[in-house]
Amino acid sequence: MENQYRNSFHIEPAQGLLNDPNGLIQFKGKYYFFHQWNRFDTNHDYKEWGLFVSDDLVHWESVGSALLPDCFDDKNGVYSGSAIEHEEQLYLFYTGNSKIDGQRKSTQKIARSDDGRTFIKQTQTIETPEAFTEHFRDPKVWKQGNQWQMIVGGQTKENNGAIALYQSKDLLNWNYVGIFYEDTLLDQMCECPDFFSLTEDIALLTVCPQKRTSTEKDEALSSYAGYLSGHLDDSTNTFIPSNGLKKLDQGFDFYAPQTFEDNQGRRLMVGWMSRMEEAEELHCPTLQDGYLHCLTMPRELKWQENQLYQVPLKEYQNLRKSEEVYSASSGDIENQDKAYEIIVDFKEAVSEFSLSMNSGANTLHYQDNQLVVSRINWVTQETEVKQIDLHDLTKLQIFCDTSAIEIFVNDGQKVFSMRFFSTNPRRDAYYENLNENGSILFYTY
Ligand code: FRU
Repeated sequence: MENQYRNSFHIEPAQGLLNDPNGLIQFKGKYYFFHQWNRFDTNHDYKEWGLFVSDDLVHWESVGSALLPDCFDDKNGVYSGSAIEHEEQLYLFYTGNSKIDGQRKSTQKIARSDDGRTFIKQTQTIETPEAFTEHFRDPKVWKQGNQWQMIVGGQTKENNGAIALYQSKDLLNWNYVGIFYEDTLLDQMCECPDFFSLTEDIALLTVCPQKRTSTEKDEALSSYAGYLSGHLDDSTNTFIPSNGLKKLDQGFDFYAPQTFEDNQGRRLMVGWMSRMEEAEELHCPTLQDGYLHCLTMPRELKWQENQLYQVPLKEYQNLRKSEEVYSASSGDIENQDKAYEIIVDFKEAVSEFSLSMNSGANTLHYQDNQLVVSRINWVTQETEVKQIDLHDLTKLQIFCDTSAIEIFVNDGQKVFSMRFFSTNPRRDAYYENLNENGSILFYTY
């Protein structure tokens, strides 16, 4: 059966390999989601920026290539970066990756566009500061007062993950200010940093720490996406965290997230789904159809009750087709639709609940203040779980696509994102222990 895993509402490439979301922005009204793309093959040997555009964040059009590795200093990859709109122009900031005599060199680069289709690479470039190795990439730009700021993720010469800060008055010429944040928690390299405020007092620094076997090689031992809450100290130009590093997502597949503010003032985040283990990538069932990976749905970030919430967007309600309501304490939800949404609204904190989805391919179980989510690993064929402490369970909102699932717990207090690959044409669900006041809404998409 052809394309049996193709998702319907997650962004994925028609062909080739997609990784990080890049340059997320609403430009002249339209949403622009650029992304890392190998359009020729399903490996990481070639990287350019591809582009999807949308009017409503749920229906996307693939525009194709946006930035190509066609200069000496980006010939081995147009790596990740961000976007800014200024005076009706779209500015893209990215890392040019080049290998000279086998040695990696990173150059932070800028491209500009009037129309969001043709991008002109600028002559101004940013070199790596003395304190950093050439593992230096993924510029994220924002405005602070009338000052443009840029952070770049990297590795110090002492082999620690760290983030560098630059400033500019004109978005083209940048001055290195110093180290914005450095910590042993950033391991040996920090990829894809992002910085933004959620309230007047709370700013977030999102990071992707990596541990490596060798500074020479690209093999990463481990990596994940996390965040620190805190504030920017204007006098030292450094980030001051107010508590420890936390994971952004509790599932199996979430990496290299980026945020942007849209015209409604919402802070939206999108991640790459995902940075799989090497064997998972090599055996990913979509390879037979010539493509690999997808992005997560955009989620709105909010700071509530002194914690981060990742809230699904109301725009997804436009995808709902039919609705069914369940209120018995246990029951079957018979279903063959590959894209659907389930809302379990307990209306109070419950002590126990179980849900099996996709004819047993994914399960969720809550008991003794533990929430356990499972899937079947497509390499080992074994069930694997993610488990978190969860004091109260009051609501679940689950978005299931053909081969991607995102589970929002308690209106976004925790999120589990994961891929799954089931050959079963049926997608039945079964639940147990629904409380008396609770109800389940089931929507096909
Ligand atoms: C994160 C990352 C970035 C880099 C890009 C290359 O997944 O390694 O640091 O810019 O992917 O594709």
